[in-house]
Amino acid sequence: MKLLIKGGTVVDPAARRMYRADVLVEGDRVTAVDKRLAGGDARVFDAGGKLVFPGLIDMHVHLREPGQEYKETIATGTRAAVRGGFTAVAAMPNTKPVADTPAVIRYVLEKAREAGLARVYPVGALTRGSRGEELSEIGELKAAGAVAFSDDGRPVAGAGMMRRAMEYARMLGVPVISHCEEPSLAAGGVMHEGLVATTLGLRGIPAAAEEVMVARDLILAEMTGCHLHVAHVSTAGAVRLIREAKARGVRVTAEATPHHFTLTDRAVADYDTLAKVNPPLRSDADVAAVREGLGDGTIDVIATDHAPHASHEKNVEFDLAAFGLVGLETAVGLVFTELVADNVLDVPAAVAKMSLNPARILGLQAGIIEPGAAADITVFDPEAEEVVDPALLAGKSKNTPFGGYRLKGVVYAAVVGGRVHLRDR
Ligand code: DOR
Repeated sequence: MKLLIKGGTVVDPAARRMYRADVLVEGDRVTAVDKRLAGGDARVFDAGGKLVFPGLIDMHVHLREPGQEYKETIATGTRAAVRGGFTAVAAMPNTKPVADTPAVIRYVLEKAREAGLARVYPVGALTRGSRGEELSEIGELKAAGAVAFSDDGRPVAGAGMMRRAMEYARMLGVPVISHCEEPSLAAGGVMHEGLVATTLGLRGIPAAAEEVMVARDLILAEMTGCHLHVAHVSTAGAVRLIREAKARGVRVTAEATPHHFTLTDRAVADYDTLAKVNPPLRSDADVAAVREGLGDGTIDVIATDHAPHASHEKNVEFDLAAFGLVGLETAVGLVFTELVADNVLDVPAAVAKMSLNPARILGLQAGIIEPGAAADITVFDPEAEEVVDPALLAGKSKNTPFGGYRLKGVVYAAVVGGRVHLRDR
């Protein structure tokens, strides 16, 4: 099988440049990248006027399988991924059972292989059952295929436990992804603590809940030498702490989600449970700081925290609604609409945060289109526009707060290991 992606503009996030070139794919590999390639008997894919990215990687996704297949499955979640332009995702371990045994890791990999859509890289649980009481068998989980470790959704409350986890992870050369939330500060909160929460009579989660934990984990990363990756940064203080730690040489990377650089707590103002997410949507100043952190390189990655929930878990009173929103199918459009159009990031920098940087953090050979590389490629039309229609999402759950948003740029196709997944509209 040969494929010629013709006439597009290739984005190289490593060299931070864009250039006109054809890309030849043979089997599951890129074999040539050059001006005007002759493809012979190759299937020709016209990419004129389009951008050709190294396959996008979403390093923070909840696929819900095993255990909560009514919300999402590996098949539906990876279908949403390729529709959103992602050729690979990292799957968080808060499944049922939790991904704390090699059997669950292997199950996830097997289901992903069967689905044949996006690649799936499992994240193993840091502690057994993500209860924060004893370490999971990180070495065995790594051998089974886990690429990083986290108790995402459930912060590791004890500093001693986090220290041991980081020491162990450092020894094995794997990153620890931290959901930074100090439980006693966040307890009972359902949205950002501030004026909007007070007006609505809802209990708040203060910015300090995140910042206290970011500070703790940075100190522990410095002490242990472990690579700490801070998930879904949402506050100005967290951005500042990470920036300072990077300047000191601490091994830390960080991610931000499209909803945290786009929306504020005002999205909750009419008790809209679609905007209930953890960490919560924050203030204007926090959103500005997250954007600044993306622009100056403090925040390395854009990841969605894709968190599918069924409608009966969202169509309830605000206090009872599940935290989380789906993000795979709106992420690239939001990046181009909110960050590229606003000159927060240029195109190569935006693409770096969605391909090369997550690849480096997770230790994957990906993020660049060059001869010999795996043929994971995203084709994107930056001129097209679309209005988000939740009913058209490919994922099983439709819990997006971006329904009705007009997005600049539309994913055209995702190529995974040489297989083309054209986006149907
Ligand atoms: O809003 C969230 N939903 N935040 C998390 O940390 C977990 C996620 C989920 O799994 O639903």
